[in-house]
Amino acid sequence: MDLFEYQARDLFEAYGVPVLAGIIADTPEEAKAAAEKIGGTVVVKAQVKVGGRGKAGGVKVVHTPDDAFTAAQAILGLDIKGHVVQRVMVAAGARIAQEFYFSVLLDRANRSYLSLCSVEGGMEIEELAVERPDALARVEVVPGVGIDLEKAREIAIAGHFPAELVEKVAPVIVKLYNVYKGEDATLVEVNPLVLTEDGQVLALDGKVSLDENADFRHPAHEALEDAAAADPLEAKAKASGLNYVKLDGEVGIIGNGAGLVMSTLDVVSYAGERHGGVKPANFLDIGGGASAEVMARGLDVILGDPQVKSVFVNVFGGITACDAVANGIVGALATLGDTASKPLVVRLDGNKVEEGRQILRDAAHPLVSLADTMDQGADKAAELANR
Ligand SMILES: Nc1ncnc2c1ncn2[C@@H]1O[C@H](COP(=O)(O)OP(=O)(O)OP(=O)(O)O)[C@@H](O)[C@H]1O
Ligand SMILES: [Mg+2]
Repeated sequence: MDLFEYQARDLFEAYGVPVLAGIIADTPEEAKAAAEKIGGTVVVKAQVKVGGRGKAGGVKVVHTPDDAFTAAQAILGLDIKGHVVQRVMVAAGARIAQEFYFSVLLDRANRSYLSLCSVEGGMEIEELAVERPDALARVEVVPGVGIDLEKAREIAIAGHFPAELVEKVAPVIVKLYNVYKGEDATLVEVNPLVLTEDGQVLALDGKVSLDENADFRHPAHEALEDAAAADPLEAKAKASGLNYVKLDGEVGIIGNGAGLVMSTLDVVSYAGERHGGVKPANFLDIGGGASAEVMARGLDVILGDPQVKSVFVNVFGGITACDAVANGIVGALATLGDTASKPLVVRLDGNKVEEGRQILRDAAHPLVSLADTMDQGADKAAELANR
């Protein structure tokens, strides 16, 4: 989960990273009031989860509350790379002497952490990385060891900080790592980290991505979720405890086991090429215990997707055998009643497959048809979705 800048700012503050006052505002009036409260020069900043806000006109320095009003008016509603600004942060203005870059992130390819650092930060960092890659240091951070003061100095030196600045930024780097580690983040990026004219080091911008797999350790993270941006079907699935991802297609998919569901998506995509280009409408893994209740919740979410034209249920019976799954399907359809209105293609295989198929044949539900193989089922479901 990516955070907004203002949320990153709050986390930084909680970990003792030096930041400036920041107040969020949803209207120009609120921005004006925030500027009055902070006083002096302020910066009105678009809060969108995408980079390059400054270059897109989403960051404006102003000197009076009235100008903050005008700046907010210009920024709110602005489309930055497809993200419409709904909210701004009014931040205290810093007198910047120098801009630096620092980040620490999960390095999946090397199964490690990686820190990037440069004494030359700011909005041109992407160009710097391409044109003079040596100016942007890449330092491995060993996960079990982390970043202590000594390691932080090593990173700053690699980023070409002069000696006197190394001593100033190293403690801030340690605190930023504490945010990364303490919050189970996969990215903490500060661009720019600045030196002010009066010699302070400050984080003036922040990008933080949190690892959702660690949410169980962080009950506070739930409040950081952007409920407004969440897909309503995904929100409903989450509330039902389902592992569901909305996709942009017409064939609803239910399977058990993430690997089987992933390959079902592939097979349906291929089949769709023969049937008007229909595509999978979602990922949904109902897991091992495919009970009637879980099946009903899954079908309920999928059938609630107006884009869905047909559903492919692809289950491999293991510990939960096919007869239980078949009873689950029959039970789910009974529970859903008239809500179930789209054709279902069911492919069962594995433990007690014959018993399972027999249950579905006996139930003879008008919406359900059986497929012998995964390819056949995908083809049938794609064909039905294309009708
Ligand atoms: N509080 C502040 N006081 C003074 N100047 C600021 C402040 N915040 C940002 N700036 C200036 O505006 C520039 C852009 O701000 P910021 O880094 O937050 O946005 P951005 O880099 O364009 O956005 P993104 O990081 O999303 O690409 C900074 O490099 C800095 O020069
Ligand atoms: Mg920035």
